Amino acid sequence: MLESILLVGGQGTRLRPLTLTTPKPMLEVGGYPVTAHQLARAREAGVTRVILGTAYRAEVFGDAFGDGSEFGLRLDHSFEPEPLGTGGGIAQAGAMLESGPDDPVLVFNGDVLTGIDIAQALISWQNSGADVGLYLVRVANPRAYGLVPTDEQGFVTAFLEKPEHEREIVTDQINAGMYIMRRRIIDQIPRGEVVSVERDVFPKLLASGVKTLGIVDEGYWRDLGTPAALVKGSADLVKGLAPSPLLKENPDLREDGSALVFSESHVAPDTELSGGSVVMPGAVVEAGACVRGTVVGRGVRVGAGAVVSDCYLAHGEVADEARLTAEVVC
Ligand code: GDD
Ligand code: MG
Repeated sequence: MLESILLVGGQGTRLRPLTLTTPKPMLEVGGYPVTAHQLARAREAGVTRVILGTAYRAEVFGDAFGDGSEFGLRLDHSFEPEPLGTGGGIAQAGAMLESGPDDPVLVFNGDVLTGIDIAQALISWQNSGADVGLYLVRVANPRAYGLVPTDEQGFVTAFLEKPEHEREIVTDQINAGMYIMRRRIIDQIPRGEVVSVERDVFPKLLASGVKTLGIVDEGYWRDLGTPAALVKGSADLVKGLAPSPLLKENPDLREDGSALVFSESHVAPDTELSGGSVVMPGAVVEAGACVRGTVVGRGVRVGAGAVVSDCYLAHGEVADEARLTAEVVC
């Protein structure tokens, strides 16, 4: 048994108005909701049970994933009527865990695409003797994330969430949104209170000397918090840069990775579909249209001769002969 908690309760403010109706983890990238890719990846890595930490628009997750049997997982839903923050969300979901006190529990942010070998990360953590493991990546501009410096042995020395001062930018290593935590560590987080795992829990754990391994990975990583990242992430899945079991043997994926075209869509023969585009079920792409690096959502129509690049088309219609670049349409 390997249990995990997947946090999907955020409001996705930077993605409004897309997230007014659909919570961010349920937005479709690479043909499927972000959460579906994450569940499939977790299953592949040996996770047997996932507890979804929901708050904002929780009902959508129940409708989409139910008991998880479609993914070969046991799925349970933890609901926060008032959002409890990342730490509070982990604590509340943690009350449903069945693992023993020293067993590892995986915790995932619900809005990242990653290439990390999760099973291997778990082995590295086990070998280190640490109580906590943090998946880290290096980025050019770390300021918008949680900064996580490590010592020569790879153990975490500090956790600085979204630092405001230049002097706090002490590393380019950031929290990549996956944690390994012994169950007893999760049990220490206060329940029923608003708690931030990044601002409250990790700094306190480090101050009290809890051994925390930094697992730095050089592979694919992307936070899907902005429209541009959402569009890029979707194309990366289709192109195979971001691994997902849902795309591996998908019959609707073109062999060269240029596009994922669901068979329930309508695409005229003389069209260009490229750059990792997705044409969702019920979408229509008319004659002579050019669709590059774009998600054409369910029921969306791209008119004849239109040229659409790097867009997320969630709803509506692109007029014949229109030119559209890097736009969200909803
Ligand atoms: N259950 C629950 N309750 N989940 C929540 C809540 C809550 O109150 N608030 C946020 N979440 C979920 C979000 O849905 C998301 O999946 C995850 O927690 C992280 O929240 P974001 O709002 O996306 O945070 P961020 O992107 O600004 O920063 C986080 O991720 C970065 C990497 O992508 C932090 O963990 C940073 O340290 C990290 O670098
Ligand atoms: Mg995020």
